[in-house]
Amino acid sequence: MKHQIVLLPGDGIGPEIAEAVRRILDASGVAIEWFHADAGLASIDKYGDAITDETLALLTEKKVALKGPTTTPVGGGHRSINVLIRKTLGLFANVRMVRTLPGVKTRFEEIDLVVVRENIEDTYGGLEYLQTADVGSCLKFITRQGTADVVRYSFEYARQMGRKRVTAVHKANIHKLADGMFLDTFREIAAEYPEIAADDIIVDNVCMQLVTKPTQFDVLVLPNLYGDIVSDLCAGLIGGLGVAPGSNIGHKLAIFEAVHGSAPDIAGKGIANPTALLQSAIHMLRHLGELEAAAAVEKALHETLAAGEKTGDLGGKLGTTAFADAIISRLTPVAADRTVTPVRVKAFGHAEARTVSEELCGVDIYVKSTTEPVVPARVGALTYKGATNRGAEVTDANRENLTLVDWWRCRWMAEGSIGQAEIVALLGALGETPWMHVEKLTKFNGKKGWA
Ligand code: NAI
Repeated sequence: MKHQIVLLPGDGIGPEIAEAVRRILDASGVAIEWFHADAGLASIDKYGDAITDETLALLTEKKVALKGPTTTPVGGGHRSINVLIRKTLGLFANVRMVRTLPGVKTRFEEIDLVVVRENIEDTYGGLEYLQTADVGSCLKFITRQGTADVVRYSFEYARQMGRKRVTAVHKANIHKLADGMFLDTFREIAAEYPEIAADDIIVDNVCMQLVTKPTQFDVLVLPNLYGDIVSDLCAGLIGGLGVAPGSNIGHKLAIFEAVHGSAPDIAGKGIANPTALLQSAIHMLRHLGELEAAAAVEKALHETLAAGEKTGDLGGKLGTTAFADAIISRLTPVAADRTVTPVRVKAFGHAEARTVSEELCGVDIYVKSTTEPVVPARVGALTYKGATNRGAEVTDANRENLTLVDWWRCRWMAEGSIGQAEIVALLGALGETPWMHVEKLTKFNGKKGWA
């Protein structure tokens, strides 16, 4: 039976490298029925939208896709396809394999690590606001469910690919509640995989360690934003964007794509390097259980690069088509390592409902004011505790050191617990004082849920 795979060639160099990869895969003998669909500028030109509902439905139906890079037009209000695809199709993990390749000169040898990036949450939810004309804010959210999914995927990946250690990357020393949620959930899930070592590292330290001793890492799992940055850093470790593969994994779907973009500067010149997309396709073959074909294509790619037959970005002389031909000419049957099973992503289910006691203790109201806000000292059970400006308490002792902006966090606390009505009464008492953002201060199981 043929595998049914959606091919989204994408924009810029996308069609050139997608065609090269399709030819190599077809030459490997693996039976694939390709379903071509548009995404990106090509789709905007034809249908007025960067990705159509029909294409999203096709992806949902076929469940596996190979995607070329797509250009996100700056401005113009078009949806970012990558973000849209990930969110709409529930692709919660972005997996980037980071392995040095033969014939590709890099500062370090024998790097072999995997970066698993949470793909939906963090600062990528589009929850952004101008609090005042001069203050932008962006809501960073980390959920127990989203973290459990990506962490459990990382451990499943480690278990099934024979890897030994999973390291959580975070900044829980500063973002104690958001990254704290990530770290606590990581530790909970890690306990389900006693045979795999689990540890954690702060994101700034991991960056330093990666550029000094990258071979020490095995599988890294990160929240979205750190993962975005660290995975590009890792691409640099193995020879740059032309070679770094990736995949977007959901419970039901998987989309394989290179890390790089549409490279408009070299589009149409026939010189783009298809290696990154080809390596993504190799992982797609493993995902499909086509382990022999994956091994054969990988071996042919490695031999081609080792022979110095490379594209210009890697210091070679070949164009995209000639490079693909060189790989095809080296395709021979290879026995695959059947001890390594393809990673299957189970539906992990929702984090189980927990019994959590909640106690509303106070409220933070963000107020616009060019001077220290004048607000009610007491409304009902709520007593005013003071204001901060850009995170700093403003006192007589430090006022002259601070540069203040027109956005204040004002805090009211109650002696015991309160209901929502008290907060509504307080908002009413603020009268014409402009407020833009309200945060409840709640204790969960007796533990403070605010910083
Ligand atoms: P880019 O990755 O397209 O290009 C950066 C540099 O790397 C360029 O000099 C380019 O020529 C080179 N390069 C990239 N891939 C190459 C390859 N396979 N072979 C040889 N050289 C290669 O990044 P840029 O210029 O920031 O983004 C261009 C467009 O791509 C933007 O619209 C951006 O939004 C989009 N993009 C799309 C992605 C996706 O669809 N997954 C990911 C990243 C960017």
